[in-house]
Amino acid sequence: MNVTQLIDTANAMMIEGKGLLAMDESNPTCNKRFAALGIAQTPEARRIYRDLIVTTPGLGDFISGAILFDETLRQQTNAGISFVDALKKAGIIPGIKVDMGARDMAGFPGEKVTEGLDGLRSRLVEYAAMGARFAKWRAVITVGDGIPTQACIDANMHALARYAALCQDAGLVPMVEPEVLMDGSHTLDQCLVATEKSQHALFHQLYQMRVDLRGVILKPNMVLPGKQCPQQDNVDRVADATITCLLKHVPAAVPSVAFLSGGQSAELASQRLNAMNVRFKGRLPWVLTFSYSRAIQQPALELWRGQPANITSAQQALHHRASCNSAARRGVYNAAMEKGPGRS
Ligand code: 13P
Repeated sequence: MNVTQLIDTANAMMIEGKGLLAMDESNPTCNKRFAALGIAQTPEARRIYRDLIVTTPGLGDFISGAILFDETLRQQTNAGISFVDALKKAGIIPGIKVDMGARDMAGFPGEKVTEGLDGLRSRLVEYAAMGARFAKWRAVITVGDGIPTQACIDANMHALARYAALCQDAGLVPMVEPEVLMDGSHTLDQCLVATEKSQHALFHQLYQMRVDLRGVILKPNMVLPGKQCPQQDNVDRVADATITCLLKHVPAAVPSVAFLSGGQSAELASQRLNAMNVRFKGRLPWVLTFSYSRAIQQPALELWRGQPANITSAQQALHHRASCNSAARRGVYNAAMEKGPGRS
């Protein structure tokens, strides 16, 4: 393991003012989002959409790294170059999603465990040779009646640590994603308990598997009430609960925390990240940034709708969300940034 190379990559990913773009939706997830907007669910439609994203003018001003799905890594842009090379040209570090998805966990109704460890070592070697510099694995934890169980948390965090060790061995920075889902009517406090247990178990497992935390990016959920919870807490309460949880469970050796958006609205995802960076300025051991998919892409996807004539406006919307989140990462985002032509 070349620790210096891992630390250099992790540092480049968390460079001042920038964050990460998740564009690694699996084919079924991408198809579901396309279907909802009447867009064709084909490899070519997915390629055209990813081309739209990667060729957005100025994206690299706000985005330091982008996570691709296997299919995209093997495709080419309209200009006939690989997506990896197109990202590099835009000053964006290419990464790859390497888990094989969350499946029902046998014996644990309502809970999931992420698959993908078998054969991972050789897949990582191939991805590194194709130019990926970091790799993501997502574990999902569901909050509900009597869940999450400790068994589900332990199984998922063990897999995350096994994947992280393999990544570092292959020279890729692991982006570890333990996601406590927003689905359900649970309260913020219930999300907090599940998030605390997950992060505690995760770092215990990473330590056991001898993962060097200086070359790891944590991609956690924010601590939020469930989408159906009648009590929707304000931005400051979410910021304080999220940071208190992280401070208790995430070692200072970790260079960066890059949040997922998890189904929050695009504006709330910016507001909450901004509040954390404002309220805890100068008091945190790690950089706080974003690794959003929906909270960056959704407005652009809704504008595009598969129509070539809409590409420019979709790219402008994508650029706008990336710039808002860049401001939030610096703690200088404000509501006025959402006003203007074509904005709500
Ligand atoms: P969202 O920001 O839409 O939650 O996606 C992030 C991600 O990478 C999911 O694995």
